[in-house]
Amino acid sequence: MSYPSTTSQWILESFTGPPGLRLQHDIPLPALGPNDVVLKVRAASLNSRDNQITLNKYVSEPVLPVVPLSDCAGTIIATGKSVKRFQVGSRCAATFHRKWLFGRLTSPSQTSKLGSDEDGVLRRYIILNEEDLVEIPSSLSFAEASTLPCAALTAWNALFCGSRPCKPGDAVLVQGSGGVSLFACQFARAVGATIIATTGELGGEREEKLKALGASKVLSYRDKDWGSQVRAATGGRGVDFIIEVSGSGDQDAKAIALNGQIAVIGGLGGGGSAIFDMRVTMAELRRIFTGSREQFEDMNRAIEVNKIGPIVDSKVWRFEDAREAFDHAASGKMWGEVVINMADD
Ligand SMILES: NC(=O)c1ccc[n+]([C@@H]2O[C@H](COP(=O)([O-])OP(=O)(O)OC[C@H]3O[C@@H](n4cnc5c(N)ncnc54)[C@H](OP(=O)(O)O)[C@@H]3O)[C@@H](O)[C@H]2O)c1
Repeated sequence: MSYPSTTSQWILESFTGPPGLRLQHDIPLPALGPNDVVLKVRAASLNSRDNQITLNKYVSEPVLPVVPLSDCAGTIIATGKSVKRFQVGSRCAATFHRKWLFGRLTSPSQTSKLGSDEDGVLRRYIILNEEDLVEIPSSLSFAEASTLPCAALTAWNALFCGSRPCKPGDAVLVQGSGGVSLFACQFARAVGATIIATTGELGGEREEKLKALGASKVLSYRDKDWGSQVRAATGGRGVDFIIEVSGSGDQDAKAIALNGQIAVIGGLGGGGSAIFDMRVTMAELRRIFTGSREQFEDMNRAIEVNKIGPIVDSKVWRFEDAREAFDHAASGKMWGEVVINMADD
């Protein structure tokens, strides 16, 4: 089985934002082990963390230089002699954490995140162990499927993998219109939940788009008391799930229903953790860290059956323009996921 001996790749050399990225060519690929595959990357997507990493603001400090990005989709073009899970031509995505196959996140998987602990996917070819990939839904393009490993899986885990899954009639609060929140909207809608969303600016295009995605009410997270407004919008009962990407524990406490679940995901508001006094709410706080391979495969089936199409920002970037893609993602002006499309070499 023949495959290229070298690849082009971007590396992050310094914590100076996108200017710290450098494009390299003719980097030798390692030897193909018996359980390895060669993935030809067709598309890669950016998450909030990828810009955090370029500024050393991520939860764990990456060791430089590192190939950025965790999320991609591509085609397998060669397999090691013992590979059983895939064949040449399989359409796959890499998993965010290597070796988190099922069950709880373990320490070795926790420190094997692509694009930070280990070299990521912003390269044309990658050699990966067959265990570290999943087949992508046949209904999706490579650009769409490249958005799944982090943003989509985080939203899926938050809604369906806790002590009880989100059900028809539940009320779900999604905060802001970032990647995780848009996936959460789509999943919540598919299951028949009521969606309340927040955004930074009311009365504009984003509010309209959130409503088109199923939000019955859109509120401003710039309003100091938005948590009470969320509660009022549910007739005083509160929401059953909060997609907590902002670090707004004080507002979550007002918005959450008795025994609701708060998925602690991010800190876009700069507020850090979402911890608050839980004695009144009986709420369950779940720290989410994407999800396991098993959860990824469950999600992919749901995406296919429910015909969910990930939202890709209208501007798709070339591999050579990766720095500009990072700048665009940092601006927060995108609608959906920022994707880099790999043209053939
Ligand atoms: N724990 C995990 O497994 C995990 C996985 C993925 C992401 N994360 C974290 O979750 C957060 C969201 O990630 P993402 O990739 O979805 O981000 P993103 O796509 O970069 O989000 C951009 C959006 O954030 C919204 N935003 C800004 N400030 C906000 C605030 N104070 N409250 C609510 N929304 C606000 C804005 O929405 P509007 O334009 O509507 O104002 C903006 O469009 C980040 O902190 C990220 O690091 C964690």
